[in-house]
Amino acid sequence: MVYSDKVMDHFKNPRNMGELENPDGIGEVGNPICGDVMKITIKVKDNKISDIKFKTFGCIAAIATTSMLTELAKGKTLEEAEKITNQIIAQELKGLPAIKLHCSNLAADALRMAIKDYFKKVK
Ligand code: FES
Repeated sequence: MVYSDKVMDHFKNPRNMGELENPDGIGEVGNPICGDVMKITIKVKDNKISDIKFKTFGCIAAIATTSMLTELAKGKTLEEAEKITNQIIAQELKGLPAIKLHCSNLAADALRMAIKDYFKKVK
């Protein structure tokens, strides 16, 4: 399988890896078919994602897409961050092999879940 240099870079040097202490929102998703799981924790300040970390147990594409997602989401308003789609993530990574496109869904879904969790807590 051929991955772009950018995918390999994010896989080998993942950004924002780990878990935030006392996060404002948590998003956890899993792919029942491949068994990969992903957890995203966020901190929110002034309606913006001030910090974000991820833990992914999964394939090269799953790790690279979550790493890319954290870079895209950091500093964005919650409304902007909610609009980050799997297509945007794949584009930023200079493409993903078609068979691996579904992996980027996990990252976008986990972030949306973390944002939803935040809104649930502040209501
Ligand atoms: Fe499971 Fe990539 S193969 S997320």
